[in-house]
Amino acid sequence: MTHHNLKNALENPVFNTVSQATSNLGLESYVIGGFVRDYIMKRGTAKDIDIVAIGSGIELAQEVSNLLPGKPKVSVFKTYGTAMLKTGGIELEFVGARKESYSEESRNPEVESGTLADDQNRRDFTINALAISLNEATFGALLDPFDGMQDIDNKVIKTPLDPDITYSDDPLRMMRAIRFAAQLDFTIEKGSLEAITQNADRIKIISKERIVDELHKILASKVPSKGFSLLHKTGLLPHLLPELVALQGIDEKEGQRHKDNFWHTLEVVDNIARTTDNLWLRWAALLHDIGKAPTKRFDKKIGWTFHAHEFIGSKMVYKLFKRLKMPLNEKMKFVQKMVLMSSRPIVLASEVTDSAVRRLVFDAGEHVEDLMTLCEADITTKNPRKFSKYHDNFKLVRDKIVEVEERDHVRNFQPPVSGEEIMNTFGLGPSREIGLIKDAIKEAILEGEISNEYEAAKDFMLKKGAALGLVVKK
Ligand code: CTP
Repeated sequence: MTHHNLKNALENPVFNTVSQATSNLGLESYVIGGFVRDYIMKRGTAKDIDIVAIGSGIELAQEVSNLLPGKPKVSVFKTYGTAMLKTGGIELEFVGARKESYSEESRNPEVESGTLADDQNRRDFTINALAISLNEATFGALLDPFDGMQDIDNKVIKTPLDPDITYSDDPLRMMRAIRFAAQLDFTIEKGSLEAITQNADRIKIISKERIVDELHKILASKVPSKGFSLLHKTGLLPHLLPELVALQGIDEKEGQRHKDNFWHTLEVVDNIARTTDNLWLRWAALLHDIGKAPTKRFDKKIGWTFHAHEFIGSKMVYKLFKRLKMPLNEKMKFVQKMVLMSSRPIVLASEVTDSAVRRLVFDAGEHVEDLMTLCEADITTKNPRKFSKYHDNFKLVRDKIVEVEERDHVRNFQPPVSGEEIMNTFGLGPSREIGLIKDAIKEAILEGEISNEYEAAKDFMLKKGAALGLVVKK
């Protein structure tokens, strides 16, 4: 093991405070995990800092708080034997070193305390087991028993112990391995990959919240397909998102083939990841075709069809979010809307008329740009001529959206003549006729027959009323 000194990682004065508190209590302590990894990888300094104490993490946290100005509040999680405090925009998490790692299924998380080496053994990956000493005599010394430095250099995800042990301690680590591979652009060491493949079904015991957290992180990475293809390859995906797995494969009938919608989807996700960081729009890209599996039919005349897959897909979004305990709020509604409308701009790719664009803006409302971003990402044709033609047309649609919006303001459409005014004009109460007139005004605006203005709409209302045999009240 090479001896590095990483004092420079400990520039933040809070580390001196932890060191002081450690001496006061006669303990040892180390900074460990993501902070050290990210420092070495030059990924910036993490705001979450994990401190491991050889002794009680909770007592150390309390002593650190005593030494800090204002004595920040210490949150204690007794069952886990951890404590947390916030200071100067960072979160310090304290834990006592243990022999056995805590696992979600274990009924007895009160595990035996251990040495630093015991604790490092029980961590997930060699790159996360790197520790820097906060002890006075060795302040800044790196402790790297599994050569995590080498693994960072080689860009490898590897477990400190036999992978079967590490993954059964906490099966979520199977997803963490894949998430880190995607996030850091690392490869997963062969033994680990095999262990994950063998134990994939153990992911079932993990809470949905922790699973979704990892899915979010995979989706948020630069090339999300890297993570999703690993989830697929290891057999984890059927336990997480079976709707996606169902899209895999190409059927052929009477010489007609359709594209593999699973791999297509992953391409779409990578495309959209290049243009947006909006996590929910990325989810929409991931789910935009899920309705294709249950709607797939073969028709002798037209070949493969996926009739109403957007509608079915948007219904499936709700079930999927519910199953994964994801929020059933406006985020979910946004994803549903994107899936439902995901084919709408495609028809515009051949002919861009004002009225079609107005309708698109009317229906998509404030999300029309996001919808265009999704549709552009959906262009995965390998034919360069078609590729530029579709993109050029969508560029036209985007220009037209701006133009039409400046003129007609249909994005957040408010009827220029209110229902109340229609009722007063014709001396009617709420009735079918009022609805008909309101609708006709909206249609006339969307079709471009009249402008979206009060005078024009009022004239139109009077004509429409007359046609319905209504008389203006004097
Ligand atoms: N850890 C572990 N097994 C887990 C989760 C965490 O061994 N299932 C250990 C790792 O040493 C990890 C540290 O706890 O580095 C902190 O975990 P966490 O904050 O979840 O991850 P980070 O490594 O800090 O990375 P990130 O913040 O990017 O998630």
